[in-house]
This record gives sequence, structure tokens and C-alpha cells, in this order.
Amino acid sequence: MFPTPAGPSVPSSAVLCGLGGRLPSRAVTNAHLARRLDTDDTWIRTRTGIRRRYVVDPGQATSDLAVEAGRRALASAGVDRVDAVVVATTTPDRPCPATAPAVAARLGQPGAAAYDVGAVCTGFVYGLASSAGLIAAGVAERVLLIGADTYSTIVDPLDRANAIIFGDGAGAVVLRAGRPDEPGAVGHFDLGSDGAHEDLITVAAGGSRQRSRPGEPGREERHFAMRGREVYRHAVTRMAASARATLSGAGWTTDDVDHFVPHQANLRILHSVADALALPRERCVTHVESVGNTGAASIPLALADAARAGTLRPGHRLLLTAFGGGLTWGSCLLTWPELPRPERITP
Ligand code: UT7
Repeated sequence: MFPTPAGPSVPSSAVLCGLGGRLPSRAVTNAHLARRLDTDDTWIRTRTGIRRRYVVDPGQATSDLAVEAGRRALASAGVDRVDAVVVATTTPDRPCPATAPAVAARLGQPGAAAYDVGAVCTGFVYGLASSAGLIAAGVAERVLLIGADTYSTIVDPLDRANAIIFGDGAGAVVLRAGRPDEPGAVGHFDLGSDGAHEDLITVAAGGSRQRSRPGEPGREERHFAMRGREVYRHAVTRMAASARATLSGAGWTTDDVDHFVPHQANLRILHSVADALALPRERCVTHVESVGNTGAASIPLALADAARAGTLRPGHRLLLTAFGGGLTWGSCLLTWPELPRPERITP
């Protein structure tokens, strides 16, 4: 905890000052999937753009990736200590307790506030808003925010519609208290939800609605389920609407956006959203082709990849937009800060 600053109150913004990401070591190509599923490389590439994804080994959990990504983000920020650790995930190590306290402990952050954010693939943007709130409220001066998911642990390996899309990974940022006009300051959020469509993306069993009962729940109840075609339509309209609301709230137009960094759901979705916003596709940062849809990890992993490649440079203006189960969606703006070049996210 840090003392409340004396003197005239200056609004404390959250400023991005560290970035890191980590993928697991096992690569799964479309050809690998075609060997065990009724699918093929052409179908997967034309419908999703995806060529490869990475998955955890048996025994490897979400926190293992989260710790690696968190360590890299702390090193990138050049800090040893943070006041809070927030983990956005849909695949926690267990239903109880949250994954964040164990991640904080393994990162040498005893006593730090630690909790999970559950907003499915929108988790990172919700986590950014939540972390910015901790900083603005004076609860924390520095926050480590990690988006981490291991969808391979909840997707039925025989479900060809979902097994081809998802990959595992973790991405992390460090946020510090700073001024709203500094490069790296996150702001102009738009967050929303529509629970009337909660059944479009679900894991049926394992919560209080469908309780544990003697005997095993059916395979389909334990696994991730998604009504892909309907989700696709919502993803395009909700992401475009959220992006527009954020831009207009900030008084920006699409011409002010150097890079649009969307949740990496499916290449066709990302291009459709860019087209709906009249944003040239070259300004849309994508890496879904080489890592798949990594859930809450996808935006920070895309940032780490693009920063490493030199695509993101200090002063560039970014629009981040996510969409996921709930349904949930959210966007935020930030001007890219000076950061050390991130390590390679691939193993
Ligand atoms: O991150 C959270 C948000 N999630 C998303 O944004 C994902 C949104 N949805 C999607 O990306 C797409 O809906 C999918 C990639 C999941 C599916 O693509 P689609 O073009 O919407 O296909 P579809 O589900 O409408 O299926 C079309 C056909 C079906 O066959 P019939 O009924 O026309 O004979 C499917 O059975 O394609 C079949 N199909 C496949 N064929 C070969 C479904 N999966 C596969 C597959 N390989 N892997």
C-alpha cells in the first residue's frame, strides 16, 4: 500500500510500463488436427485464417503460463514489486480459489492484492479497466495484469468446430500510476454485456447452476461449447459498436488510430470489424494466424508480438477492442509508450 499523495489532487491514470508474453512449447498445426479430426488445412485457413496454435502439456496449468508472462512483464518494467496482481482467465487452475494469489506468490509478491477477472475473451480489457480503477482509487500504485488461458484444457479434442480455433497462452502488462497525458496512459473505456445471450458460449457443468452430483457429468457438459455462427455475427457488430463508442467518447475518428488491436477471434471477424469501421486492414494488428484464439491472452500477446516486430512505436495511437462470452465486450485507447523490446513469445 502506498500513502495518498498530499497537495492538490491530480487524477491518477494507469500508464502501461511493462509488457511480456509466453506461449506453451507444443505447436499444433492444421495438418496435426486433420490427422485426428474430420477437417483439413484449407477449411481451417479459409474460415479462420489460423495455421497454427500452441497447447500446454499434460500437467501444465494456466498459472504456469501466467507466471512466465508476468515475470517477463515485470522485467520489462524494471520493477520487483507491485501492489496488485490481476489475472483475467476463463480457465483458472481450479474453480476455487482464484488463480491470481498463487501467481502473485510465485512471482515473489507476498501481500499483494490478487484476484481473477472473469469476462471470457473480453477479460483483458475488463482487467485493464479494473486495474486502472485500483490506481485511480489510490489502492495500488503498480498493478500486474495478466491475461492467461488454456482452452485446450476445456475444449473437447474431438469437437472440430472449437478445437481448430483455440490455442493456449499468457500475456501481461505492468501498469503504474501516472498522468493521463503521458504515453502509455490507458483511457476512454467502453465496457458492456448482454446476458440474454449467455447460452452462446458456455461450459455447462462445474458451477452452482449445474451442481456436482454423484457420477461423472456427461462429456459435453464439462466441455466448452459455442454456437459459432451466431457468436460470429455478434462479434462483428458488438466489436464495431464498442470501438465506435470509444472513439467518439475520446473525440477521435478512425483516422486518429494508427493500430487497431482486436481480440484475435478469427481473421475474418477481425477484417469484417476493420471494414465496418472503415479502417484499412493494414492498420489491424493480427497474429491469430500463428497462435489461434488465445482468449484473455490474445490482446497482450498481440501487443508483445507487434512491439517486438517494431510495428508499434512510441507515440502510435492504439484502439484495443475485445468480445467474448457473457456476452461481453470492451474497448480502450492508449498511446504507445517507450518500452524495451519484448522477448519472443514463441518458445
Ligand atoms: O473468442 C470468443 C468469440 N468466438 C468467436 O468469435 C468465434 C466465432 N465463430 C467462428 O469463428 C466461426 O463460426 C467458426 C470458425 C467457429 C465456424 O465457421 P463457420 O463458417 O461459422 O462454420 P459453421 O459453424 O456455420 O459450419 C459450416 C459447416 C458445417 O457443415 P454443414 O452443416 O454446412 O454441413 C460444419 O459442420 O462447416 C462444418 N464444420 C467444419 N468442417 C470442416 C465445422 N467445423 C469444421 C471443421 N472442418 N473444423
